[in-house]
Amino acid sequence: MTDLAAPPAPDPAAEHAERVEHRWAGVMVATVILMVAIATFSGLHDAAVPQAQVETIDPRTLHLGGEFIESNLGSALEPDGSVTVRAVGQEYSFTPSCLLVPADTQVTFRMTSADVVHGFLVMDTNVNLMLVPGYISTLRARFDALGERLMPCHEFCGVGHEGMWARVKIVDKAAFAKLTAQHRRLSCVE
Ligand code: CUA
Repeated sequence: MTDLAAPPAPDPAAEHAERVEHRWAGVMVATVILMVAIATFSGLHDAAVPQAQVETIDPRTLHLGGEFIESNLGSALEPDGSVTVRAVGQEYSFTPSCLLVPADTQVTFRMTSADVVHGFLVMDTNVNLMLVPGYISTLRARFDALGERLMPCHEFCGVGHEGMWARVKIVDKAAFAKLTAQHRRLSCVE
């Protein structure tokens, strides 16, 4: 006859499993706490510390002089072999409307807006910027594949937003160098 009141014999396997479960639960809680701490810290840090480099510009006088005057827009070859591309977005176009860049070269985009916030995106690449009036947006990129890419405005900017787009033409490095001998600023606007 069995004694029903006797406590069940401890099962070492079940005890072990429980310890493992507790340990993993602890790891999960610690991970969540760590992630929240990182998000909190970086959020507060971003809010409290100004960006290392903010360049401002008066959007009302872009066309009158300075870096973004029309004759200075387009691609420029720098002494170190890199290329700087300057362009302006405005309702509802980009100037120049076709950007010419060499492949396998460091390209620095310097862009701004003459009126409202626009978006600058080169399709199938990670080139993606906001063009905010009053500020110069800068991005460094490198293109490997030759060809043409669409460059739509991706920030709703008014009734003509849908029709606001340009093109980026990536050409061979040597062909680009040849063109720079003839022109101070390059674009592929025809
Ligand atoms: Cu410019 Cu949308």
